[in-house]
Order: sequence, then structure tokens, then C-alpha cells
Amino acid sequence: MHLHRPVLMLVAIAQAFPLTAAQPVRARRAMVVTREDHATRAGAAVLRSGGNAVDAAVCVAFVLAVTHPSAGNLGGGGFLLARLPGGRSTFIDFREKAPAGASHDMYLDAGGRPTADSLVGWRAAGVPGTVRGLELAHRRYGHKPWAELLQPAILLAKSGFPVPYSLAVSLRADEKLPKFAESRRIFLHDGQYLKPGDLLIQPELAQTLERIARLGAAGFYEGETAQRLAQAMRAHGGMITAEDLRNYQAVERKPLEGSYRGYTILTAPPPSSGGVVLLEMLGILENSGYEREGAGSAAAIHYAAEAMRRAYADRSQFLGDPDFVQVPVARLLSREHIARWRASVDPYRATPSARIRPGAAVPVSAASTTHFSIADAEGTLVSLTYTINGNFGSGVTVPGLGFLLNNEMDDFAAKPGFPNNFGLVQGEANAIQPGKRPLSCMTPTIVLHGNRPLLVLGSPGGARIINAVLEVILNVIDFGMNVQDAVNFPRFHHQWRPDQLDVEPGISPDTIRLLEQRGHRIRKLKPFCEVAAIAFGDGWLEGAPDPRVEATAEGY
Ligand code: DON
Repeated sequence: MHLHRPVLMLVAIAQAFPLTAAQPVRARRAMVVTREDHATRAGAAVLRSGGNAVDAAVCVAFVLAVTHPSAGNLGGGGFLLARLPGGRSTFIDFREKAPAGASHDMYLDAGGRPTADSLVGWRAAGVPGTVRGLELAHRRYGHKPWAELLQPAILLAKSGFPVPYSLAVSLRADEKLPKFAESRRIFLHDGQYLKPGDLLIQPELAQTLERIARLGAAGFYEGETAQRLAQAMRAHGGMITAEDLRNYQAVERKPLEGSYRGYTILTAPPPSSGGVVLLEMLGILENSGYEREGAGSAAAIHYAAEAMRRAYADRSQFLGDPDFVQVPVARLLSREHIARWRASVDPYRATPSARIRPGAAVPVSAASTTHFSIADAEGTLVSLTYTINGNFGSGVTVPGLGFLLNNEMDDFAAKPGFPNNFGLVQGEANAIQPGKRPLSCMTPTIVLHGNRPLLVLGSPGGARIINAVLEVILNVIDFGMNVQDAVNFPRFHHQWRPDQLDVEPGISPDTIRLLEQRGHRIRKLKPFCEVAAIAFGDGWLEGAPDPRVEATAEGY
């Protein structure tokens, strides 16, 4: 019997996409995935006109500073992980630093209790690193003229762009922006809230960007921008001085490298905790058989949550800025340490976190950061996560400059042993010291198979970032999902303290019941984390924007 043509086609499609629910964006040569379409398109245009992935990353980062003000930034910091065509990889650390005037107990009140000063207002900001970081990446690895890469951002700031739905909602909901006159004026139009589709025009930001286009990072860390920032800080009791700005340097570090089932994992070294925690979790899971019952099964979620609990417990104690404290990376990733953790996992029973190490608990609140992934036609890969920490950072817009300042100081342990805004308990290794970088969870990552790339990925989401990255890697490598399914798949999260397992909608009620029977306290949350991933296979690049937000992918 002959099959009719359409049936034949369907059979062919079913074979090409086994067990697939969603399709990524496919292209042959190059790909950009970001959480905002102006940024995606600007990045793709840079690649099409001969720029490499680093050029595109610089352009995208500046565009997001205009079109995604809750996270994209000039006033924050982040990490850029890159792999170059020859196979060398590098990591640019442009994390904010504590100002010279910062001190160990600066966020404690007279009774020794942590205050909100690390989260809201002028004193919450660390010295921004983004502009220096982008300049360093561009100087070392970019091709195109710097000023050209800033043009799309300048244009969008000057002429405005239609406010997307999610931005309109988050501007209206934010509690910090109304407290600061300049933020209220620019972002809230003094109470005449922008509706979706209205234009957000940012002339002051356009001028700040023009200075950066003309003078490079010196146009931010010196001259008019720096003077205005330092002056406003003095006037409002903030800490950042002109000298802090002048002294800020981004640094190039060696990426952390590990392996999982024959794949190479390139990821973020300290001052991010992301890479160490990710590699610990992968180590605990490797050869454990956790995946046998399948993706989304109670058995797999339980085992992965136990790996999370243990690796996050180590995070709380040992990790901090390597320029200030000894971080025992080799010991944490040693075979013995990981084997000990694996041996302590009961596949049928949750281990109470109290038995792993003491701590305290508060709820995790929503906040903002953003990640994008880029691959160019020559083989350069860029995985970049940057942040102002909270949604709209500290809430402060520097008058006349048009950009928001971060509240990254809250990523320090304001009071070692007590939880921060993400509920993360952290130790003396991450206490405040002048010039130190606060510990981060940002986890820009690249996965290789031999010399060939498999995945470029990362995510925002505070404490949940590392687990989101982990789960997408597991979904691809262990559960054979295509990258879009892997990104879409419902997520779960455990961070040791508080002792609870967060689950996204989509994890089934009977799976939840089975997890509860194993001893997990379940908290059902709204969707969390927005992974931006690129996968490589069969001569195609596959871009996977996260449908949890208005992310897009474009390739050619
Ligand atoms: O560096 C960190 O780990 C945090 N400041 C990231 C914050 C974050 O991802 C919030 N995003 N949704």
C-alpha cells in the first residue's frame, strides 16, 4: 500500500523531531537570542554586516540598557563568557565592586539587624562595571568600530520605542521607582503611566550613551557622567566617589572548566558561585542513575533537588570574591568531595537541610537580570549575563544621566549567617569589604562535545539561575530534548535554605504528591527564570528564546 504524500511528509517530520513539542528558531550560520526584540534584531544586524559575536554582544548590551530598563544597564555589572574560533575561551568579569567607603556592618542598625539600605536607594549601589567590561571585551576581541556598535541604542533612546506589555506592567507595579524624583519622572511619567505601545523616550540616556560612544569607557568613568554621578551620591548620602569610578577595572579570568558525561562545561568562576555550584551538582548526578524514571518524574526531581541542596549549602559557606578570600574551588570539585555528597543522597527520602548545615529562611522575591547568547559564523560564542540585581536596581536614576543604579550591595552577606533578598544564607567569605565584588549566582555557560559546541546558555533569576542552567543541560544531555523543549520544560528549584522545593506550573499534582511523600516541602511558584539558549547540531544553529517572557531569536 502506498502512503499518500502528506502522510509521508508527516512521517518524515515525526522522525526528524522525535518527542518534540516546540521548535527552536533555526539558522545555518549565526544566531542571537535575547529577551527583547529590538536587542535581538540589532545584534543580528551586527553579525550580518560582518561583526563578530563580541561586537554583537556589545551592541545588544547597550540596546538592552535602553529597551529593558529593569535589568539591562549601564549602572550594573555582569559576566561575559566567550569561546573564540581557535578554541580558546575567556571570561570577562565586570561585576560591581563595593565602594572604598564600604564597611562590614554598614547595613546593620544599632541593634545589629540588617536594614533595607542594601536594596533601595543611593547607598545600595556598588561601583558599576558594565561599561568597562564591554569596553574590555571589545578592545580584546571585537572588530567593528566601538561608536558604530552604540548607534542602535542611541537611536532607540532618542526616538523611543513602544513599551512592551511586560515593561508596562512592571513599571506600574514597582515600589522603588516612585520614591526617587528622577526615576518617577523618566520611567513613570510622574504618574501618567505608560501603556503598552506608548513610546518611552530617554533623551538623557541618549546623551550618556553618546559620551560613551565618543570617549569609550572614559566617557562614563571620568568627565561629565562621573562628575554628575559622584556629586549626586554626595548630595544623597551615597558612597560612590569619583575616585571609585576612575579606579574601577574589569578583569579577564580563566573560565571554570568541568565535565559531565563526556561533555565539557565552560562556566563562570568566582566571584560567581554559579560555575562551582553547577559543576558540583552535575558531579553528584553523573552516574547516579537519577534520570531513569524520565524527565519530570518525582524520582528525577527528587534526586536533582538533593544535589541542589548540597551544592547550595557549600555555596553559603565557602564562596566569595577570589581577590579577597581563598575560595577552595579544587576541593569543592574534587572527586572525594563529590562522591561523599553523592553517597549521602537517599533516592527515596529528602535529607532535611538542617542535617546538612545550619541556616535561616526567608521567602525569595522577584527581581531582575538578563542573559543573552550569541554565535557568529566564524565560531565565536558569547554567553553574557548582566544585572542591576533587583527589578530596576536600587530605584535610583542619577539626575541628568538617565540610567538606573544597581542594588548589588545586597548580594553581599550584610550579616553573615543571615539570608539576603534571595533567601541565600552566606558566610564571612562574602562579607562586605571596600573594593570587593559581591558573590553572584550568574552562570553564563558553554557546553562542548569534544571541540564542537553543543550549547550556549544562561539565565536571570537570582538564586534560581544556577538550577535553571543545570536543568536545561540535563534536559538536553540526559533526556534528549531539543533545546526549545529543554528551555520550556517546567522547572524546580532547591537552594538548601529555606528547606523547600519550588516548582513551576506544569509539574503535575501527582508528581508533587510523590515528592511530598519523599519528605519535600513543596512551594508552587509562578514561572521563573528566562533562559536564552543556542544549541548546535546537524549543521543548524537552534535558538531557543524563553516563552516565559517576550524573548526572541534571530539567525541567518
Ligand atoms: O548576581 C546575582 O546573582 C544576582 N544579583 C542576580 C539577580 C537576578 O538574577 C535577578 N533576576 N531576575
